[in-house]
Formats: sequence, structure tokens, C-alpha cells
Amino acid sequence: MAKHAASLFSYALSALLHTASLSCEAIDSDDRKVCIVNIGSLPNDEAYSPPSQHLGMLERVVGSNSAANVLVQSYKRSFNGFAAKLTDPESERLANMKEVVSVFPSKTFQLQTTRSWDFMGVSENITRNATAESDVIVDEGFGPAPRKWKGVCKGGQNFTCNNKIIGARFYNPTESARDIIGCGYGLAQGTARGGVPSCRIAAYSVCNVEGCSADGLLGAFDDAIADGVDIISISIGPSSAAPFHYDPIAIGAFHAMEKGILTSNAAGNNGPEEGTVSSVAPCILTVAASSIDRRIIDMVVLGNKRTLIGSSVNSFTLNGTSFPLIYRKDASRICPELSAGNCEPDCLDGNLVKGKIVLCDQYVGNVEAHKAGALGSVLNTSNADASFIVPLPATGLSNQEYGIIKSYLKSMKDPQADILPSEVIKDDTAPVVSFSSRGPNPILLEIIKPDISAPGADILAAYSPDAPITQSRGDKRRVKYKIASGTSMACPNSSGVAAFIKTIHPDWSPAAIKSSLMTTAKPMNRTNTSPGEFAYGSGHIDSVKAETTPLAPQVLKKDHNYPSMAAKVTPMKSFMAKILPGPKVDIKVVPEVLSFKSLNEEKNFNLTIVRTGLPDGSHVSAELIWSEETHSIRSPILISSSVM
Ligand SMILES: *[C@@H]1O[C@H](CO)[C@@H](O)[C@H](O)[C@H]1NC(C)=O
Ligand SMILES: *[C@@H]1O[C@H](CO)[C@@H](O)[C@H](O)[C@H]1NC(C)=O
Ligand SMILES: *[C@@H]1O[C@H](CO)[C@@H](O)[C@H](O)[C@H]1NC(C)=O
Ligand SMILES: *[C@@H]1O[C@H](CO)[C@@H](O)[C@H](O)[C@H]1NC(C)=O
Ligand SMILES: *[C@@H]1O[C@H](CO)[C@@H](O)[C@H](O)[C@H]1NC(C)=O
Ligand SMILES: *[C@@H]1O[C@H](CO)[C@@H](O)[C@H](O)[C@H]1NC(C)=O
Ligand SMILES: *[C@@H]1O[C@H](CO)[C@@H](O)[C@H](O)[C@H]1NC(C)=O
Ligand SMILES: *[C@@H]1O[C@H](CO)[C@@H](O)[C@H](O)[C@H]1NC(C)=O
Repeated sequence: MAKHAASLFSYALSALLHTASLSCEAIDSDDRKVCIVNIGSLPNDEAYSPPSQHLGMLERVVGSNSAANVLVQSYKRSFNGFAAKLTDPESERLANMKEVVSVFPSKTFQLQTTRSWDFMGVSENITRNATAESDVIVDEGFGPAPRKWKGVCKGGQNFTCNNKIIGARFYNPTESARDIIGCGYGLAQGTARGGVPSCRIAAYSVCNVEGCSADGLLGAFDDAIADGVDIISISIGPSSAAPFHYDPIAIGAFHAMEKGILTSNAAGNNGPEEGTVSSVAPCILTVAASSIDRRIIDMVVLGNKRTLIGSSVNSFTLNGTSFPLIYRKDASRICPELSAGNCEPDCLDGNLVKGKIVLCDQYVGNVEAHKAGALGSVLNTSNADASFIVPLPATGLSNQEYGIIKSYLKSMKDPQADILPSEVIKDDTAPVVSFSSRGPNPILLEIIKPDISAPGADILAAYSPDAPITQSRGDKRRVKYKIASGTSMACPNSSGVAAFIKTIHPDWSPAAIKSSLMTTAKPMNRTNTSPGEFAYGSGHIDSVKAETTPLAPQVLKKDHNYPSMAAKVTPMKSFMAKILPGPKVDIKVVPEVLSFKSLNEEKNFNLTIVRTGLPDGSHVSAELIWSEETHSIRSPILISSSVM
């Protein structure tokens, strides 16, 4: 397997070095779009000035008068490249220059945050103004920033740093590092080596309400790497995966890894459909979101005493026990049946919904129900596995339960219901992966993505009091903590665990940290999480085991391999191999015992996989486990038989 992984890496590298260009979407020659020109690594030459090279290259395509005007940003601290406003033919001419690796349009990326906001379709603009005083917590337990820190606190308006948040910068399209949209940061976490165990945070703000620009994102990577962060945590992604040389997160993470920095990235929230994972490069730790054993639910009690279980964070108490239920034409005078049923914008009639609970066929209808002044709302949700904050007494029912309330409403002359406030229940099925984006990896099948899963549903998270807590303009509530769901919640967990490993093993490479997280992950139940590894990768993050295991596989610095099996162990240990075989494949490991006599010793083994009747286009899972008396490390093996 180690050998196989090595050949994969050379594939990835050759992809990164391949020169190519994508259309920068110019409509005519005067219509310029921001494109990113990727020039690879910085040369080891003190006299070399990237900005003058960038201007020189631009002069060759747009002339010396315009070059400075079209240059948007130079990347020059950690890697080489620039963003510029280019037409199609100009971007093509740049792509043909021998020093250029790739040219691609600066697309808009999205936060992988609250699933409710993106999968339900935003129907109303978010209120952007708010009380905006600086209120970052000053924690007296922290000393000054670590000496290696080379960053600055330039967070712009309404942003101050302290000994916990030690750095801030902002990029196109933001005007400040202050979070006004809720979880708007690409965060980088730095650890104070030795001294205090707690992480420091530097915020690199790249997103506004419309999204995050790829050129700003690369600027944040360029700075974060040079500022001296230890771990980069980035809960941002494109809507679909791109080849590595067109993917700014892959490019940034590649250069970060070269400098010994691990990038942890949210897998995306486009599951459960397969092939939806958007974070696909081998140099990234891609994190899926799983449920935790605490669920937040609320009950809907129908007039016939039947109780349905819904998902939402509903802090409201209705004063009474039964209220009229209405739907479609009974709630709207102006909209056609279907639009009224969906509670589309401006469809509900305030006079009709007043004092009543309105049914909405789509989740986002809660915003319109609130705006129209309904007493409450029962919503049809495709995502009953996570609970979102609602602006009025409301809850989301699974398609099936929603069907029950609809037939109850149809069958009654005077349908009634009550919505109870949220309660917390224990969920013994956790961890389960639901909305999180799935593999297989659409760019490079041989690399399993996501890599790992971490808690990401119904997570209590610190929140910006400047940001609205629901999508409803009328909802003026402001909080410092809120319940949120998404791979954006899972990603900082793995970043935190990775940062902690870094404090214990400051000499470990990013690949070694990643490898230790993956090989110590807990196996998950594939029966309730389909389709197994493509949902959760190596399994559920086990922070205790990852932090305490003395056996975490060590991969040499600069070796970008996937968990190869060179092990860092305490001396005089022998590991036995065990294969948990999959159907229709024969797997052999040679040798079956690895004995280590000294620290940092490297051992190799060969894994041979023979297909014995596995049909084309199918995949099976198996596992390789190396164990001695008290510890074991595990690697999932996913065998796909594709027609090449
Ligand atoms: C939302 O904002 C965009 C631009 O900021 C504007 O074009 C659009 O009309 C707004 N939509 C609503 C529903 O206000
Ligand atoms: C939002 O801004 C408008 C003016 O643009 C102002 O009238 C209103 O009071 C502001 N709302 C809040 C909550 O700050
Ligand atoms: C900073 O806060 C002030 C006052 O609260 C507000 O008017 C301004 O828009 C804020 N600026 C940013 C960039 O958030
Ligand atoms: C219920 O009554 C209490 C006390 O009268 C009030 O504070 C609360 O807002 C009422 N709830 C709703 C949803 O109207
Ligand atoms: C509920 O929403 C799903 C899509 O999420 C849709 O397929 C289904 O038809 C809806 N159910 C009703 C009763 O509208
Ligand atoms: C990550 O989540 C686990 C729950 O599985 C929790 O125990 C741990 O404290 C979290 N770690 C961090 C760094 O957030
Ligand atoms: C896995 O999940 C299934 C379905 O929820 C359940 O029946 C089974 O007991 C679970 N297995 C384990 C080992 O927890
Ligand atoms: C693995 O296979 C290669 C090629 O057959 C061989 O050269 C090497 O010695 C083998 N390594 C081990 C540890 O068996």
C-alpha cells in the first residue's frame, strides 16, 4: 500500500505542475474577470521580487500602462502567484508562459456552515447591521503571543486582538475581520509551543454575505503560512470539486504542508448523495460531520393526541394547548396553491395566519411565516438529522411525519395542534453521518475522501453577536453562543485535536499528525451510515486516542504520502497484522509481523489485493489493523473495481 500511495502522490504532484487554463468567463474583450495566476513555489533567491515579476508578466499581456490597474493582489510571502482582472485571451497568454502552473477564475466559495441556509435556498437577504461593539473575550490565563508569531492584528473596524486572538487580517470581499454573518472566518489556530497548552487564534476573514472569493482565500493562505500558524482550519468550500491546480484551497494547503502546516477543511454539506465531496486533495485533512449523542427535538401534538417528533431549536412556549392548523389557500389570498403551500415570499396573508399554525412544504417557509405574523409553523424538512434555530414557534418534520400531519389536516374539519418547546434527548445511534458530503473522490478515486468524521450536528458554538441568528429579518435576537450544524462545525474540532497533537509532538509533520488522527479513528457503524467509508473516511475522530497513542505512524517531513506505515514507536515492540477481509477480494500483508528495536525506525510492508469475483463498478471495504498488547492502529482499505 505504501508503494501505491507513493505513486498516487507523484500523480498529484504532476497534476499540480501541469500548465493549464480555464476560461476566465470574459464575455467580451473589455469584460475582465478576476483570475488567479498560479506560479508555484517561491524561488530561493533573496534578490527575487515577486511583485515586479508579476507586473512584468502582466505588462507582456496588457501593456505597461494597464498592468498596475489590472493587478488585484500579489501572492509573495509563502508561494508565488497573483490575482488580476483579465480577459479570456489575456488569461490564455499568461497560461502559456513557461513559469505559469495554472490560470483559473476566482470563483465564489461558500461557508460550509449552517446547512439550513444553503440547502433550503435563501429567499431573503440577511440583515447586516447590528450592534457592533468589540467584545472579544480577554482571557487572563494567556500570556503574550508566542515569539515565533510573525502575524499582525489588522482586523479593520470593530476588531481588537487579545492574548487569545493574536492576529487578524481581512481580504476581498470583506471590509473587516469582524464576523457579521456568523462563522465567517477561515480560522488558523496557532499553538504556543511548550508553555501554555491552549491554542491561540488568528482570524483571516474572507467571506461576506455573498460568499468568499478564491483570490482572497489564497491571500489568507499566503499570509497565514508566513505569519507562522501551526494549523489552518478552513470551513469553506466550492460547490463542487475541482482538479487540484484549479482549486485554491488545494494550492494553499499544498504550500502550507511544505512548510509543515496541516490544513483541516470541511468536506461540504451536500450529502447524502455520493460523489459530492468538494475537498479532495491529498494534502488536506477533509472532515465530515457526524451526529453527537445529544439531539435537540420538539414535539408537535395533534388535536387527536398523536405526537410527532420534529427537529428545531425552538425556545418559544405557546400559551395554550391547541391552535388552528392551516395550509395552502387557507393561508394565502394571492398565491397559487403550490406557492402558498411552500410559504413562498409574500404569499402568506397576515390576517389569515394570525393566531394560527401554518404548514409549509419547504423548510425556508419559516421566514415567511414569521414575517406574516403566524403564531407558529410546521415545516417539511429533508434534513431531520440536525436542528436549526427558528424565529417563531416552529419545527421541521421528516417527509414521512410531515405526510402524517398533512393527512390529519385534510381529514379534519377543525384541525388543531400544539408545538412544544425544544427538549434534549439522548441519541444512542450516534455518531451517524447524514447531510455531510460523500465520496467517492470525483477528482482522484484512489484517495478516499472525506478522511475522517468529527462532531458536526447540533453543536453549541461560540457565535458573533453582530450576526443574525436566523434568516428572518424580523428576528432581532443576538447571542454569543448558538446551536449550529454543518461540516463547518466538525472542521474546527479536528483542527483543535490536530493542534493539541502538535503541542505534544512539535516535530511531527502534517502528514504524521493526519496519519495519527486517521489510524486511531473509531470504526463507525456502516449499517446506519451509508455508504460506509465514503461518508466518514477512516472513522470517527478519537481525540483521546490520537493524543495519547505513542504509536502514531510517523511519516518523514516532506513526505506527502497517505498514512504509510513507517511507525514511530516506543522501542522493542512487535506489531501483528490483522486483515478484516471484504467479500470477493483476497488481501495479503507481507510481512505479518513488524518488530521495532529503536525509535524512529522505519519498516515497510507490502499489501497485495487480488480481486476474486468483484463486479466492475462496485466497491468493497476491508481493514488492516496493526496491533501489539495495548495499542492498535487501523487503516480502512476501500477497493473500487472500475473499468479503466
Ligand atoms: C438582495 O440583495 C441583492 C444585492 O445585494 C439585491 O439585488 C436583491 O434584490 C435583494 N433581494 C431582496 C429580496 O431584497
Ligand atoms: C439598521 O440600519 C438602519 C439604517 O440603515 C437603521 O435605521 C436601523 O436602526 C439599523 N438597525 C439596527 C438593528 O441597528
Ligand atoms: C463597526 O461598528 C459600527 C458601530 O457599531 C458600525 O456602524 C459599522 O458598520 C461597523 N463596521 C463594520 C465593518 O462592521
Ligand atoms: C406566553 O405568555 C408569556 C407570559 O404571558 C409571554 O411572555 C410569552 O411571550 C407568551 N408566548 C407567546 C409565544 O406568545
Ligand atoms: C417535502 O420536501 C421534499 C423535498 O425535500 C419533497 O420531495 C416532498 O415532496 C415534500 N413533501 C410535501 C408533502 O410537500
Ligand atoms: C471534539 O469532539 C469530541 C467529541 O467527540 C470532544 O470530546 C472533544 O473535546 C472535541 N475536541 C475539540 C478540540 O473540540
Ligand atoms: C449498527 O446500526 C444498526 C442500525 O441502526 C443497529 O441495528 C446495530 O445494532 C448497530 N451495530 C452496532 C455494532 O452498534
Ligand atoms: C515488496 O515488494 C517489492 C517488489 O516485489 C520487493 O522488492 C520488496 O522487498 C517487498 N517488501 C517487503 C517488505 O516484502
